[in-house]
Amino acid sequence: MHEGTRQVLDLCTGNGSLAIIAAHVYPDTVVCASDLSQDALDVAALNVADHGLQARITLLQSDGLQAPTLQAQGPYDLLLCNPPYVNAHSMACLPPEFQAEPALALDGNADGGRDGMDFVRRLLRDAPQHLHRQGVLVLEIGHERAFFEAAFPALPAVWLPTSAGEDQVLLLTREALVS
Ligand SMILES: C[S@@+](CC[C@H](N)C(=O)[O-])C[C@H]1O[C@@H](n2cnc3c(N)ncnc32)[C@H](O)[C@@H]1O
Repeated sequence: MHEGTRQVLDLCTGNGSLAIIAAHVYPDTVVCASDLSQDALDVAALNVADHGLQARITLLQSDGLQAPTLQAQGPYDLLLCNPPYVNAHSMACLPPEFQAEPALALDGNADGGRDGMDFVRRLLRDAPQHLHRQGVLVLEIGHERAFFEAAFPALPAVWLPTSAGEDQVLLLTREALVS
């Protein structure tokens, strides 16, 4: 993040965990946290309240980046996203504990694709217009790096080491997205 980071967006917030972590780690920011699922947002609201962060985290319903209220809070300096990214083959072989999760949270083939990258395709197309000039996107892709790189071979992603591995979370600058 650059020094003037003020606006953070946690897209696909689910239970709100990334938004809450961002608000704690970056105390000078305000955070918008959005999800398509109202059930997820209801859980996020409980968690935000548990952390006493209602004044700094706005929860709103949006399909991707489409909601006008989400757009009005931007442009964002930091866009965090842990989207649905499971490919069609893996969706068909999910172990029972994942089958118990809502498919909306996992299935990355909402537009009819098979590689799990449908949501990510839309995100990478739309993100630049919602990012500050020096803004960055930090995207979790889980174990799907091969599918990501096959779908976006020219993108100069910076892979960020995490406790879960070296190739599950990537960073893209706005500049890289528009080039
Ligand atoms: C893998 S979960 C991520 C949850 C949370 N951010 C985390 O890191 O634990 C993906 C989330 O994306 C949401 N989602 C799926 N499709 C979406 C869409 N088109 N627009 C916004 N959110 C969506 C799901 O409801 C789910 O909460």
